[in-house]
Amino acid sequence: MIANIPETRKVIEIKAPGGPEMLVAGTRPVPEPKSGEVLIRIAGAGVNRADCLQRMGRYPLPPGAPEIPGLECSGTILKIGERVREWKVGDKVCALMTGDGYSEYAAAPAEQCLRVPAAVDLVDAGGLPETFATVWSNVFDRMRLGAGETFLVQGGTSGIGVTAIELAKAFGARVLATAGSDEKCRACLDFGADRAINYKTQDFVEVGKEFTNGRGVDAILDMVGGDYIARELDLLAREGRLCFVALMHGSRVEADFGLIERKHLTVTGSTLRPRPLAEKAAIMRSLLERVWPLWEEGRLRTFTYRRFPLEEAAEAHRLMESSRHIGKIILVP
Ligand SMILES: NC(=O)c1ccc[n+]([C@@H]2O[C@H](COP(=O)([O-])OP(=O)(O)OC[C@H]3O[C@@H](n4cnc5c(N)ncnc54)[C@H](OP(=O)(O)O)[C@@H]3O)[C@@H](O)[C@H]2O)c1
Repeated sequence: MIANIPETRKVIEIKAPGGPEMLVAGTRPVPEPKSGEVLIRIAGAGVNRADCLQRMGRYPLPPGAPEIPGLECSGTILKIGERVREWKVGDKVCALMTGDGYSEYAAAPAEQCLRVPAAVDLVDAGGLPETFATVWSNVFDRMRLGAGETFLVQGGTSGIGVTAIELAKAFGARVLATAGSDEKCRACLDFGADRAINYKTQDFVEVGKEFTNGRGVDAILDMVGGDYIARELDLLAREGRLCFVALMHGSRVEADFGLIERKHLTVTGSTLRPRPLAEKAAIMRSLLERVWPLWEEGRLRTFTYRRFPLEEAAEAHRLMESSRHIGKIILVP
C-alpha cells in the first residue's frame, strides 16, 4: 500500500517561553522516518502537564528531543523506516514520543508504538501511552504493587491518576485517591477507587489510617511532594513504598528519615521522557503483554475529558492549567 504523503505538515510551535498564547500554528517538512522509526498520520495527541512546563521554558528538553511539544499520539502508519519488522503501512498505533506530537504527522520509534486495542477509539488512543507507561513503570515496576495491597494515588483525576486507579484495581489492589473537589472525588469512585479523599476538606493520612485499621497503606504514587512528603512517610505501612513522578509543591523538605529506617520503607521515583529507547521499549512490551489484554477483557476504559482541534492548543493548555479537567485532554489535527 502506498500512502499519499504531503511534503509539509501543520504543527503547533512555542513562539517564546510564556503563557498559552505562545502556542502558535506553524509549518514544517513531514519527517522521513529514520531506521527503526515509523511515520504516523496523527489522529489524536495527548496533552500532558509537562507540555505546559515546556511552554513556560521550565522543562529542559532531553538532548535530541524535537522542539515541537507532544509526548504521545495515535494514528495510522504511513511509511516505515529501515529495520522495522513489526509494523506495516495502514496499521493503527499509539506511540510514546520525546516530542513532536502537536502535529499532523510525526515519526516515532517503532518499539515505542502499541497497536490500538479494538475497544478503543483511535483519537482517544492518543492519550494512552504517556500515562500507561508512567504508571506501569512506577507503580508496578518500581513499587511492585501486588494484589490485596492498599494503594494511594495523589491527584486521582489527573491523566496519571485515572490510569493508576484503573490499573491498580485491575491488578487486585484496594485503591484510595485524592482530589480537590467533591465532583472529582465522585469521578475517582466512578473509575473504581474504593475511597476518594477531598484533600481540601479531609486529611489523607487520617482517612488512609482509618481505611486500613491503623496499619497504613502499602504504596503511594505522588505528584505533589513538598508538605505531603512527611505525611506520606507517616501514612505508609511497614515495607511501604513511596514513588514520585512530580513534585509540584517542591522537592526540598524537612522530613523524619527515621521512619524510613524503622518501617523498612522504600522511597523512589523516575522520569519517563529522558529514558533511553531500550528502557522505554521494555515498558511498552510489558504494557503489551500484561495490560493490553485487559482492554479485550473489557476491564479498562478510556478517559478523554475533552478534545480540541490542533489549532486550539492554547485553549487546551488553559483548560489543563485551570485543573477543571477529569482525565485526558486530546488535540485532534
Ligand atoms: N515522572 C514522569 O515520568 C511523569 C510522566 C507523566 C506525568 N508526570 C507528572 O504527573 C503529574 C500528572 O500529570 P498529568 O499530565 O496527568 O497532569 P494533570 O492532569 O494536569 O494533573 C495534575 C493533577 O494534580 C492535582 N493536584 C494538584 N494539587 C494537588 C494536591 N495538593 N493534592 C492532590 N492532588 C493535587 C490536580 O487535581 P486537583 O484539581 O484535584 O487538585 C490535577 O489532577 C504532572 O505533575 C506531570 O508532570 C510525570
